[in-house]
Amino acid sequence: MEQLAGGTAVVTGAASGIGAALARCWAEAGMNVVLADIEPDPLEAMAEELLAEGARVLAVPTDVSSAGSVDALAKAAEAEFGPVHLLCNNAGVGGGGLIATLSEADWDWVLGVNLWGVIHGLRAFLPGMLAHGQPAHVVNTASVAGLITTPFMGPYNASKFAVVAISETLYHEMRMTGTAVGVSVLCPGWVRTRIHESSRNRPGGSVAPVGEGLLSSVIASGLDPAQVAGAVHAAVVADHFYVLTHPEMTPAVEARMEAIVSGRNPELRAGGLFGSVQPASASD
Ligand SMILES: NC(=O)c1ccc[n+]([C@@H]2O[C@H](COP(=O)([O-])OP(=O)(O)OC[C@H]3O[C@@H](n4cnc5c(N)ncnc54)[C@H](O)[C@@H]3O)[C@@H](O)[C@H]2O)c1
Repeated sequence: MEQLAGGTAVVTGAASGIGAALARCWAEAGMNVVLADIEPDPLEAMAEELLAEGARVLAVPTDVSSAGSVDALAKAAEAEFGPVHLLCNNAGVGGGGLIATLSEADWDWVLGVNLWGVIHGLRAFLPGMLAHGQPAHVVNTASVAGLITTPFMGPYNASKFAVVAISETLYHEMRMTGTAVGVSVLCPGWVRTRIHESSRNRPGGSVAPVGEGLLSSVIASGLDPAQVAGAVHAAVVADHFYVLTHPEMTPAVEARMEAIVSGRNPELRAGGLFGSVQPASASD
């Protein structure tokens, strides 16, 4: 999708981190931007920031884990700006713990936002994006955790592997059916955002995430979200599918693939999400 200016972008999880950086990027590219997030105050602040810079913006409080809420988002976006050209299914939460200790609610929350959020986004927006026939693009935010597995992150890994699988499937389908819709999947390593504070949005109240100390330190050393948004911008314009922003982690992806094809059991390797640092226990 080479021409961005004048088109309309929708970004979920737009009030913070990678979503906020994507929203700024699309506004700078001259797109109308629809901001969706579950946190109303930061959402409003983001809208005000972009409006002050002269962008055309609509902010819609949205819970991406709710089908009805995402349907309402799609209606509001189309009512305000007409056809949607760029859909960024980005909202996500980090949650985990030892699989043996996780509750149904733990799985529900992470899969509800990270997996169902993407599914609802595709279901609500894709038909319109196909119907208008103009160049369009879908960006699904997965993670390196959609390509390699790390202990203590079961629900998150499951959600992100699923997002990669859905994105690849969608890519094939869009190609096979000759549509004007491109697809990218974003698979970053650590990015400097508020992901380690995700449970602020958990229904039923915040709980301290497993390995909070370790998480905040790796997040603090992560990539600037603006750099990630820049990589996504380049991928959308060039129609690139895989957007990997942390080359130091690709050997771990290769090692996993090699283990699969050569019949070896899974191994934890330096260069994965925690590098040589291993979480010490489930309760640190
Ligand atoms: N930060 C990282 O290191 C990293 C790495 C790989 C992938 N990701 C992915 O990037 C995406 C963005 O996360 P981030 O790192 O910017 O975190 P963040 O917490 O800074 O931003 C996430 C945003 O999503 C919103 N959100 C949470 N639940 C929601 C819901 N139910 N409905 C709508 N909005 C909701 C939050 O309010 C927040 O504004 C996520 O999908 C995350 O899994 C992050």
